[in-house]
Amino acid sequence: MAGVCEPVVSAVTFCEGVGPADGPRPGPERRVRQHACRGRSSNTQAKAHVPRADATPPLGDARLRGVVERAPVAMAVLDRELRYLAVSRRFLIDHGLGAVALIGRLHDDVFPPVPERWSTLLERCVAGATERLEASPYPRPDGRPKAVRWDITPWYTDAHEIGGLILVSDVLTEREPVREQRGQGQKMQALGHLAGGVAHDFNNLLTIILGYSELLTRQIGPDKSIGRDLRQIMAAAQRAATLTRQLLAFSRKQVLKVAPVDLSAVVADVEPMFRRLIGEQITVETVLARDLPPVMADVAQLEHVLMNLVVNARDAMPRGGVVTMATGPAELDRDYAFTHPGAKAGSYAMVSVRDTGIGMSPEIRARVFEPLFTTKERGHGTGLGLAAVYGIVKQLGGYIGVDSAPGRGTTFEIYLPTTTEAVLAPQVPLPLVASPVGREAILLVEDDDNARAFVKTVLERYGYRVLDANSAEAAVTLLDSQHPSIQLLLTDVVLPGLDGRELAARVTRAQPHVPVLYMSGYMGRLRTAKGFHEPGVQLLEKPFTAHALLTRTRELLGQADDREPVGASPPRDSTGDLVPQ
Ligand SMILES: Nc1ncnc2c1ncn2[C@@H]1O[C@H](COP(=O)(O)OP(=O)(O)OP(=O)(O)O)[C@@H](O)[C@H]1O
Ligand SMILES: [Mg+2]
Repeated sequence: MAGVCEPVVSAVTFCEGVGPADGPRPGPERRVRQHACRGRSSNTQAKAHVPRADATPPLGDARLRGVVERAPVAMAVLDRELRYLAVSRRFLIDHGLGAVALIGRLHDDVFPPVPERWSTLLERCVAGATERLEASPYPRPDGRPKAVRWDITPWYTDAHEIGGLILVSDVLTEREPVREQRGQGQKMQALGHLAGGVAHDFNNLLTIILGYSELLTRQIGPDKSIGRDLRQIMAAAQRAATLTRQLLAFSRKQVLKVAPVDLSAVVADVEPMFRRLIGEQITVETVLARDLPPVMADVAQLEHVLMNLVVNARDAMPRGGVVTMATGPAELDRDYAFTHPGAKAGSYAMVSVRDTGIGMSPEIRARVFEPLFTTKERGHGTGLGLAAVYGIVKQLGGYIGVDSAPGRGTTFEIYLPTTTEAVLAPQVPLPLVASPVGREAILLVEDDDNARAFVKTVLERYGYRVLDANSAEAAVTLLDSQHPSIQLLLTDVVLPGLDGRELAARVTRAQPHVPVLYMSGYMGRLRTAKGFHEPGVQLLEKPFTAHALLTRTRELLGQADDREPVGASPPRDSTGDLVPQ
């Protein structure tokens, strides 16, 4: 114990010696002080057993080396000859020393060539001075110069002789952006909240615009001039819906249909499409890991993520180049998490997209995930692509990193946590062309009056009986008082009071055979989509078309042919669709 405490006491001496008189002393020094105080009390108890420090090799105790090793600052303890006695892991990371065995080595051998003023300074410290070296750009062993602040102080033996030096360093060029990134994270969260709310309201409006335009187009017929105008409205609404989806993705409130996914399989599936998309000037390469552990993700959203990254890569290579998509397993350790805000230590599968394009300046790189940030000409970029990518990755519990420099190309790396669940075989959707009809009773719950009226109109025109309620509570009252037999629950996910999932749980307790179709594009306070992909549970993403509503309804209720309304067949148009009455 004695050996553990002795140099820590020296650290106290150091801290107290350079206290308030030296002006404000941020970060590391304060942490050393806390550390030191704990060390001092245990030292008092152990004092009687302390052997003379000059009789023992200083810091020879493995436990003491362990304490320094785990110190949450970049620090090293050297002897009078400037030989390393103990060093913290932070020190190794900050100075790019990795697994270099430092103990016993001379400082000059580790940091060659030591500049003249640095050796003079060390000599002064060995003679008893305490020095601070502000932001001295120092070439590290890995060749990259860094602005580092050094605090150097001697440590003393029990005989009050200088035993060597304590170095504490703070890498300014790396820490400042890290702090900045943390602030950036909070800003992104606030923006996400705002975007989510706006997108939610927009989705309801777009469902109505798209839905009624579609109904009118069918009534009027596609050839009339009004029909063409209506198609323009629908096309514009579809574009607005795409933007809304990006906003929702950014706000992490998008409904994700997560299932175990093999990232290599996803990349292999999209590769041929990307080749066509990005033209002949650009070569697409893939480096895919086999037997990659699966991740919980939504395949459609992952494809969207890759598409955004690849389109950006294409735009960054106007004169051609190479885009490489790669996958692989990855372990992120605590040091990585410490130096990369937003990353958590753990097991991941990684997918990266690298290009050989123009690259980015640090200023652009720092803002790429901000919604509406674009460097592209007006009309060529909305600045929502990477914001959506960021939101999707975060919603999946992952981490996205970017490495880029002007003229050196760009690499985006996405880390998604692995799962032990097995990848499921892909499901083939039922081929349904015409909007199918039915006659079942559907309980419709939607708090937006206009959206509810639209859905009710569509379903009733196609033969269904619709009981509607504007809240889950109203739906429960209706069920309790009238005891209707219903064949489907069609409900919004986000409702005031009880939400859609809570309502579904109540309904299926009473009528277990009733399938549930959720309508939503927005998760609201529901944090995950867990349970949404269970059998009998389906999601209809807002905004949706009348055709999508009818098709999904029919899918859940069973094949249309089995349930065609009895009696006279309703009139149909040339596509086989029912002619609305
Ligand atoms: N691979 C890349 N190389 C260089 N710069 C990039 C790259 N990817 C993104 N950027 C920069 O980040 C900005 C934001 O990208 P983001 O995808 O969010 O929006 P956008 O591409 O400008 O517009 P949108 O994706 O909405 O069409 C881009 O305008 C560009 O300056
Ligand atoms: Mg983009």
